[in-house]
This record gives sequence, C-alpha cells and structure tokens, in this order.
Amino acid sequence: MLIFLVGFMGSGKTTLGRPLATRLNYDFIDLDRAIETGEGRTISEIFATDGEAHFRALERKYLEEVIAQHKKAVISTGGGTPCFNENMPFMNAHGVTVYLKIAPRMLANRLLAAKVRRPLVEGKSPEELLRYIEETLTERETYYGQANVVVGNPSRDVSQLLMILEPYLSNN
Ligand code: S3P
Repeated sequence: MLIFLVGFMGSGKTTLGRPLATRLNYDFIDLDRAIETGEGRTISEIFATDGEAHFRALERKYLEEVIAQHKKAVISTGGGTPCFNENMPFMNAHGVTVYLKIAPRMLANRLLAAKVRRPLVEGKSPEELLRYIEETLTERETYYGQANVVVGNPSRDVSQLLMILEPYLSNN
C-alpha cells in the first residue's frame, strides 16, 4: 500500500508522515528530499536556476520513480504536487491520498516559524504570506479535494491517522 500525504506547505506532511511510516513499518519518502538528493541541488536552487516549470517536471519524474520503487510506503508530497501534471489522479490510481487540511492562519504561523527554505513564500511579510496562502489555497482546494481522505486539523499524534486509514490498510 502506498499512502500519499498531500496538503499546503506547513500542513505537517513530513512531520506526520515519518512517525506514520514508523508505526506501519513502511518506508518513508519525502518527495522534495528525494528530488534534492537525486539532483544534487536544493529546491530553492532548482527554482532559481531552472524555474518552476522545470521543477514541476522533475517532481513528476521523481513521483513516478518513487511509485515504481516502493510497495509499502508513506510518501510526503510537496505542497504543489497534486496541482500539476495530473498528479492527483495518478496518485489516486496507485494508493490512498490523504489531504491534511489546515486553516490559512495556522499555515501562515507555521511557515513564519519554519527554518526550511521555501522559494514560493520566501521574503513575504506576515500579511503578504497570509494573503498568498488564502489565494493559493482557494485554487489548490480543487486538487487537494480529490483526495480519498480529508483530515481537518489533524492531530499531532499519528494514532488518529492510523485509525482513519484502517479500512484502507486492512483491504491491502
Ligand atoms: C511547494 C511546496 C514545497 C516544495 C516547493 C513548492 C508548493 O514543498 O515542493 O517549494 O508549490 O507548494 P512543502 O509543501 O513540503 O513545503
């Protein structure tokens, strides 16, 4: 079984994905880190040198590779992964997708506190960041909403996710 965690930047895909994989005894893959390792460059460098369109093509390529190489895995996708290159139906065809749904203000607070560099939000003031999140989230909801499971305000304890995923896990 492949479990894809999707959601906006700062929604906790990696924070929850790692312990979820541990509890299930599954592999854990962070798609952004897989791209960085494979390309030998950070996401910020890829955006700065080759632009977003190139990053989106890489994102699709690595998604295909990860799917081909793993049978039991939790995959934390990038915030934009579901919204490009028909990636959402592609992920739905290969496993269960879980949307971690968080309100814009909470996302903004988390992103302001985060140390990881994210090219799409870097350099924004708190007000600009909140506006960017609200606008982008409105566009992205169409894609995120195609997830098999939507978890609003996910608990930090992965037991909740494990319980929600139980029907999918027992069938596979
Ligand atoms: C992006 C989110 C990032 C990363 C890239 C673009 C986006 O991943 O893939 O900076 O378009 O929302 P995280 O959601 O893991 O920060």
